[in-house]
Amino acid sequence: MKNLSDTITNNIKKHLIQPWPYASSIGDEYRDIVTNGDGIYIEDKNGNKLIDGPAGMWCSNIGHRNEEIAKVMYNQAMNLSYNSPWYTTNEPSAQLSKMISDYAPGDLNNVFFTTGGSTAVESALRFVQYYNNVLGLPEKKLILCREDGYHGSTYLTASLNGKSRTSDWMNYENTNIVKLSSPNSFRKLNGKSIEEFEDDLIKELSSVIKDKGAKNIAAFIGEPIQASGGVIVPPKNYLKRVRDICKKNNIIFIADEVVTGFGRMGHIFASEKVFNIIPDIITFAKGVTSGYFPLGGIAISNKLIKNLRSSNHADAMFGHGLTYSSHPIGCAVAIKNIELMENGILENALELGPVFQEKLKTLLDLPIVGDVRGQGLMACIECVADYNEENPLALDLKVGEIIDKHCQKLGLLLRPAINMCILSPPLIINKNDIDKIVSILRQGIIQSMEELKSKDLWHN
Ligand SMILES: Cc1ncc(COP(=O)(O)O)c(C=O)c1O
Repeated sequence: MKNLSDTITNNIKKHLIQPWPYASSIGDEYRDIVTNGDGIYIEDKNGNKLIDGPAGMWCSNIGHRNEEIAKVMYNQAMNLSYNSPWYTTNEPSAQLSKMISDYAPGDLNNVFFTTGGSTAVESALRFVQYYNNVLGLPEKKLILCREDGYHGSTYLTASLNGKSRTSDWMNYENTNIVKLSSPNSFRKLNGKSIEEFEDDLIKELSSVIKDKGAKNIAAFIGEPIQASGGVIVPPKNYLKRVRDICKKNNIIFIADEVVTGFGRMGHIFASEKVFNIIPDIITFAKGVTSGYFPLGGIAISNKLIKNLRSSNHADAMFGHGLTYSSHPIGCAVAIKNIELMENGILENALELGPVFQEKLKTLLDLPIVGDVRGQGLMACIECVADYNEENPLALDLKVGEIIDKHCQKLGLLLRPAINMCILSPPLIINKNDIDKIVSILRQGIIQSMEELKSKDLWHN
């Protein structure tokens, strides 16, 4: 008789289609099974305990196995598991919308809940289209986004994403989307100062606005720190300058805070506290429930809402809503999650962010490490086969996975992305955990360099 583990493996290989699969193995791909989580750790089915370096997908912010959240989920399910948001509402969504409005910068006091990040960004974009149509500006359709950005996996949000892998087999909406350069300065300075690099980015934006015409541009969308693109921290005044230009040209500024929100930078929202900008719309997800329940949303300014209310089209319906908008369990979980963050977790993240960054920088002495960057509790170690090459070499395409393999054996899970290793640990880590992460990384990178050398794939 087959044992349980064989049955699970068999089911995965026979029936489960996993995200981002390749044609050769779609519906037939085994990925490691994780069975438990506790605090900053997850455990695989063989009992191996790993530090959850990426906090799942940048989301397990308060850590795993939080009993208070579990109780809230149970109690809410026993009170009200679901109500239709089409014609009723519930108390948790009312309370959460107030809490989020209080934390959101400026007059972003109007909250619409979704099921995650892609649906949040999609909702923001559809809202912008609707807004301009209602205000009599139907030609305002172009969306400005950037290389290295990531905004989701629906048709429209995926169309905003930055560089595709060398050969991309998907279709995208191309007509209304304009991609600006990435604000990543690594290997792009070519003798320029960072200030000159920032000026170039701003010049590019201004010339795109001039070329396309502000009257045709609806919105700019950007992650304050581009997360999946490799934790790209923009030059110091870049976001503020982009924000000002958008305001001057009547272009709606959307800050995608799906990753930077809910504690990753030590605050509920990073836009104002960290980057000194007040967007027109903020999108959020992931950390809002610390991954315990799928929830996302958008916060919209009073100004935009007021303009709609005073338009000449009282009959114009925002034809957009999800079965699980304002889900009572998701909203109840988010309330408790924010309360826990207020109770020391945000403070911890704020204090340990700089410690995390400083300790990670010590890895720069390893010859394969080209850049260590980040802010708050999100960071990226970018490896380079050859520091002087502008484009990653063939080896660079594999090195993240090789380092992850070695680190996993030593007890740390990473998020490998091509030649990068991305880290965004749960916000409850302490100084000893940080030391452990950095020490495992050092060992894992050294072992990877040795493996590459022994296979004659890399020399330094
Ligand atoms: C900045 C950003 N926006 C949107 C998304 C999409 O979120 P989801 O995967 O929850 O749909 C992600 C996901 O990683 C993200 O990082």
